[in-house]
Order: sequence, then C-alpha cells, then structure tokens
Amino acid sequence: ESVLRRKLETLHGIPLFWSIVEEWAQVESFQARPDDLLIATYPKSGTTWVSEIVDMIYNNGDAEKCKRDAIYVRVPFMELIVPGIKNGVAQLADMPSPRLVKTHLPVQLLPASFWENNCKMIYMARNAKDVVVSYYYFYQMAKIHPEPGTWDEFLEKFVAGEVVFGSWHDHVKGWWEKRKDKPILYLFYEDMKEDPKREIQKVLQFLGKDLEEEVLNKILLHTSFQEMQKNPAANYKMVSNGFMDHSVSPFMRKGIVGDWKNHFTMAQNEAFDCDYEEKMKGSTLRFRMEI
Ligand code: PPS
Repeated sequence: ESVLRRKLETLHGIPLFWSIVEEWAQVESFQARPDDLLIATYPKSGTTWVSEIVDMIYNNGDAEKCKRDAIYVRVPFMELIVPGIKNGVAQLADMPSPRLVKTHLPVQLLPASFWENNCKMIYMARNAKDVVVSYYYFYQMAKIHPEPGTWDEFLEKFVAGEVVFGSWHDHVKGWWEKRKDKPILYLFYEDMKEDPKREIQKVLQFLGKDLEEEVLNKILLHTSFQEMQKNPAANYKMVSNGFMDHSVSPFMRKGIVGDWKNHFTMAQNEAFDCDYEEKMKGSTLRFRMEI
C-alpha cells in the first residue's frame, strides 16, 4: 500500500504519520549522545535555516563542505520512519559524533536519553499565522501528508491541533517552559529575519564557540534565503518528485515574515486572535506578526 496521503494516527494525543506511530518503540529508545545537538521546532518554523547555520558553524564557514550532502542527511530527522524509504533512528545510529539531530516532537514526547545526557538543544519558534500558511503549502507539495483540503479547511484543522505534530500552541509553550531548567536556546524566526548576525552570535555563545568576523560573514551569506533557495544541498530538490512536488510549491517558498496577511480573511483573523488569546493565556511567550 502506498505511503502517500495516508490518514494520520494519534500517539499520546498527538497526530503523527502512521509509520511513526507504528515504529514508536524505535524512536522512544533512541540513544542520544552527550555531544549531540538537537534542533527542535514545530514544522515550518525555520528548521532548515537553523540546521544550515549550525552545520556552517561546525564546519568553520566552509560552504563547500556544507554541500557534501543534502540537509536531511547532514541533520537527520530523528523520528521520521517511513518503511522501506527512511529511518531517522537508523541513520543517526550510523553517524559519527558530533551529530546534529532534527526533531519536530512536542517536548513531552522527546526520547528520555536526550535529558539523561543533558544534550544541548536549539528550539526555533515562528509566529502561528505564518506557520499555518507555510504548512498549508507544504501539505500540498509533500505527499506524505494527508490531503490538506481548502485553505479554510486547513486553517480549521490547524487551530484544532489536528495536523502532524499537533497543536502549535502546546508545542511552543511546552518547549518555552522547559528552557527554564534545561540547556535550551529558544530562538524566534522573526528575530533571525530581523538581525541574523545578532542571532547567530547567540548560537555561537550557546555553543561556546568563537568565530572570526570573516567566517561569520560567510555564514550569513550562505544561509540567506536567496542562497539556500538555489543550493541543492539545502532546498530539498534532491527529494524524489513522488514525495515532494516543487512545481506545486517549492520547499523554499517565500521565507518572509507576514505572508499570513495575504491568506487570512478579516473574519479568519479575528477568530484566530480570539482563540489564540485563550490558548496562550498565562504564558509569557510573545510573538511578532510583522517586522
Ligand atoms: S520543515 O519541513 O518543518 O523542516 O520546514 P522548515 O525548514 O522548518 O520551514 C520552512 C520554512 O522556512 C523558510 N526558510 C527560510 N526563511 C528565511 N531564510 C532562510 N534562509 C530560510 N530557509 C528556509 C522556508 O521558505 C519555509 O517558509 P515559507 O514561509 O513557506 O517560505
């Protein structure tokens, strides 16, 4: 049976690809190493961007080295297990240290070995409205997702938390709380857009690394949207057409803050804000919707 467009399954209340649920024992027993760096995000929040930045840091700004393989090979997606095609856990087991590990798991589902090994983690969050827009296009082009339906239908599903990896609100809040007592650097997509140099310096400080100005400038250039969009090792065009159809919508779509304004109707925006206020009540977490 085809692995494409199949219905999601639920694990501990979180909707996930059926194959992740089926193979959950493998994910749960994932063996983290103390020098792993985890890159955690809700989908479409800048995972690929931070991954490229960190790989450039690890390779001292050598852009050619960072073209050695596709981003999803350099930074494996831990929990993505699609029988016969992809197994993030197995891919990581074969990888030499220090590893960069990608996850979209909500904090409560992260395998225990990451906490036991006190691994450093970078979480990047992006405002909910731009996330749902980006996710809507991604559901259309990446066919491992169920059919997204119309924009109106997809927005409803997103608000109800009925999309892969569940509620955005719970995800960003969960990781935000955890940063208080774990080595988690919590970044925002909007800050990275506003001043990437400042944000990359935060990453360097967090990793305890110091780079020369010239290297930092190379990283800035190589990880700009324009460069990543045309870089085959970063733009996901190496994924087979059957899984990702870039003619429907490219993975590197727009890379801006505020595209939600081109998609939300006035009524949708009001309803979204009202629901948002309720769900984010009591949290100190704040997002910018434009910069
Ligand atoms: S995934 O599939 O969840 O791992 O996707 P993710 O990488 O988290 O998010 C994809 C969105 O990030 C945008 N992107 C960037 N924006 C700015 N600068 C750079 N360098 C960059 N690289 C990726 C990408 O375009 C997706 O956002 P949208 O809004 O769809 O353009």
